Amino acid sequence: MLGTLTTPLEQHRLALKLRPLLTGELYLVGKLKRAVYVWTDGLFQQVIAADEVPGKERIRQLVREQVREVYVHPEDIENVHEQLEIALIKVTRALSIGDPRENGQRAMKLMALNLTGLYQNPHDDELLMRQFQSTQNMAKFLMENRKLQASFFQDLAQENFHFTILQPMLSSILLLGFLQTTHMFHEREIETLYLTSYLKDVGIGLIPEDKYDTKGLTMDEQKLFAHHADFSHDILDGRVPLTKNQLTIIKHHHFLNDRLKRILNHSAPRGEEQGMAFGLESTLVAVADIIVAMTSQRPYRQGLTVYQSLELVRKMIADEYPQEFRALVVYLRQFFRN
Ligand SMILES: [Fe+2]
Repeated sequence: MLGTLTTPLEQHRLALKLRPLLTGELYLVGKLKRAVYVWTDGLFQQVIAADEVPGKERIRQLVREQVREVYVHPEDIENVHEQLEIALIKVTRALSIGDPRENGQRAMKLMALNLTGLYQNPHDDELLMRQFQSTQNMAKFLMENRKLQASFFQDLAQENFHFTILQPMLSSILLLGFLQTTHMFHEREIETLYLTSYLKDVGIGLIPEDKYDTKGLTMDEQKLFAHHADFSHDILDGRVPLTKNQLTIIKHHHFLNDRLKRILNHSAPRGEEQGMAFGLESTLVAVADIIVAMTSQRPYRQGLTVYQSLELVRKMIADEYPQEFRALVVYLRQFFRN
């Protein structure tokens, strides 16, 4: 730590000015105009001085210390957003030039940063369009680099991003790879479903961040969280070129959750739940999401194994989609074999 500002007045001024920035975004900063702070023990503490270029080792150290966010002045935030835009456009337009693994890893990190920005500002058209375009480019790149899909997934899962960022990114990779193996979809359809899956959680941006990590949410808070799919639909509708079908999939991407809850609680199916309400595409988007969610660790619970999650998926979909379920088992066995 470089130092603490001790006077209450200085702390108060900082509280009014400073804005949060993901620690990883410091990599994008050229020279800082103002100092960088962390929030510790109820005070802003300076960790990087003004006029410095944040060193890689310093940033890594902050990440190792589990500092997810730092606080910077607005002028440095602007600088970071400009750099992110330049870097993201550059890397996602030239994914196939050079080492694909390195390019893919870098692009995914930048896309995660952009997605974080989008969650924070869901009504920002530029952020949304940039996310849309880079996701389209990424879909093509992943389709061309099938052998790297599993390693991109594993690398990304190790990153320190919040699970609300990792969840759509990981589930979309899994979905894309599976759709390719089934040979039931054209490339264009796979790209479209990847994009749909990737953008399905942008509505999280309308939910206060302190509600993400808690187990004991009130009923109202649970309802609010459950509405993120509706929020995603409303945020995206008319602003990016998504079809009605894509928007419907997004709006209902948790449609299997009631069925899952019933299976977990060993309760009998309800009348209206007998058949699959939303077709194969919606089911596959939802299943990829559920598998990633169930196998990931959350702040309030342990993750299941892939086989435990598949057993639950079997109960959810195997009656309606026996062939697709078998193909999914084969695919996941291969995907997670290491
Ligand atoms: Fe979701």
